[in-house]
Amino acid sequence: MKFLITAGPTREALDPARYISNRSSGRMGYALAGAARHEGHDVVLISGPTALDVPAGVDFVHVESAQQMYDAVRDLCKDADVAILCAAVADYRPVAYSGQKIKKTADRLIIELEKTPDILGSMRSTFGFGGVLVGFAAETSNLLEYGRDKLRRKQCNLIVANDVSRPDIGFDTRENEVTLIFPDREEVLEKDTKEHIALHIIEHAAALRP
Ligand code: CTP
Repeated sequence: MKFLITAGPTREALDPARYISNRSSGRMGYALAGAARHEGHDVVLISGPTALDVPAGVDFVHVESAQQMYDAVRDLCKDADVAILCAAVADYRPVAYSGQKIKKTADRLIIELEKTPDILGSMRSTFGFGGVLVGFAAETSNLLEYGRDKLRRKQCNLIVANDVSRPDIGFDTRENEVTLIFPDREEVLEKDTKEHIALHIIEHAAALRP
């Protein structure tokens, strides 16, 4: 099968020296890419900037911004049987980019932000993606309720929900504990390394293909 996986944070530039981003290390997405390859699948990994090595045998597309990730996913998802969107895409970006470095003159600075394009939300409606669609939900409360809502709104086959309020799992950690939310059931993958969690997610996603 052909897997498309997104990973890492995106960077939304303010000026040539600065950007808005988040704490994603990319580990979960890279573990997914490695696990899918290990299982014999073809893998395209579309990733924002991380400090990680690309798993052997994986096709790699480097992006910086949410817009670049959107464009890459739009162009490459047509070939995929399974898409797993694990990236921590910035939800907002600066409205204006300053070509010159912003000088430290004002005591207070207000930066206006606008929404970035919703890649997961565009998969079915705009890109016409017909394969197995897996999204991630990083929540600090109401994990199941928000996760199930995301599953429905974004027409996913599976949402992998994790509680990012816990310091021992999730963002920028080596371990994770997730709840798999399917349309008809839920399954908890108990705390384990991101590599082991990734293997289970790949197996579940592959099994969802009709
Ligand atoms: N995602 C995306 N494009 C974005 C933002 C998020 O593809 N611009 C994807 C992530 O890769 C992840 C999922 O959407 O798979 C996370 O959704 P999120 O943005 O948290 O969901 P929303 O319900 O849109 O937002 P919120 O939880 O903040 O209400």
